[in-house]
Amino acid sequence: MNELDLFLSKLWSQYTSYTPSAEKISQLFGEKVINDHIAFRTFNLSHCNIAKQKEFLEQFGYKFGGDYFFEQKRLKAIHLENENPIYPKIFLSELILEDFSNELISVIEQISSDFNVENKENLFLGGRSWNIDYEVYLKLAEESEYASWLYVWGFCPNHFTVSVNHLEHYSELQEVNEMLKDNGYTLNSSGGEIKGSQNDLLEQSSTMADKIEVNFDTELKPVPSCYYEFAKRYADQSGNLYQGFVAKSADKIFESTNK
Ligand code: NI
Repeated sequence: MNELDLFLSKLWSQYTSYTPSAEKISQLFGEKVINDHIAFRTFNLSHCNIAKQKEFLEQFGYKFGGDYFFEQKRLKAIHLENENPIYPKIFLSELILEDFSNELISVIEQISSDFNVENKENLFLGGRSWNIDYEVYLKLAEESEYASWLYVWGFCPNHFTVSVNHLEHYSELQEVNEMLKDNGYTLNSSGGEIKGSQNDLLEQSSTMADKIEVNFDTELKPVPSCYYEFAKRYADQSGNLYQGFVAKSADKIFESTNK
């Protein structure tokens, strides 16, 4: 196993530890699943922003592929592509903290100052190294679901995405969605079950996030963890499969971790 395979397998183990449905669904396909992309969330603070994450991933052959802006959610994002196209793309997003209240900023500055980034792998696998309080979680969620998710889960994969193009038993995203619903999974239907179209060159769908009991200071509470995503890409006019992302679709996919 090379260094990148090892890193990706650690990401999958961590992700499925709090997203057990993804492990089960990956087995329902009955074939080896190839990932389209893996997504992460962070803040635009100098020690843990997407530029720092990108620096770490460059050692594995990842390069900048495109950038995105989510106006309502106040996020900036980039995607990276590997020099070897069999490896998943990486989608990195960061919350623009200065656009939020002083209360939110001070909570986030406090938790991320405790965070050890000497080993940059921690930006992807470090999880949470601070104590959490349920009232603070609810308060953050009022302003930004994204901030509240990071407060509870820390630095870890937000979702993996199955490449429908690589599946042998399924060719349409619609067929994958039907199989998921037949097996009792709930899809994110914000903006329709399928986000994007052939015209956008990218169709995406996702499950709603699992709910996991989390130990807050004095109490156990169920909160959304992560979801599993599915993507089908189409060729552009040059005949190459589109490799970018569609911001208006991703905007809706982000809501898969809503309560
Ligand atoms: Ni995604």
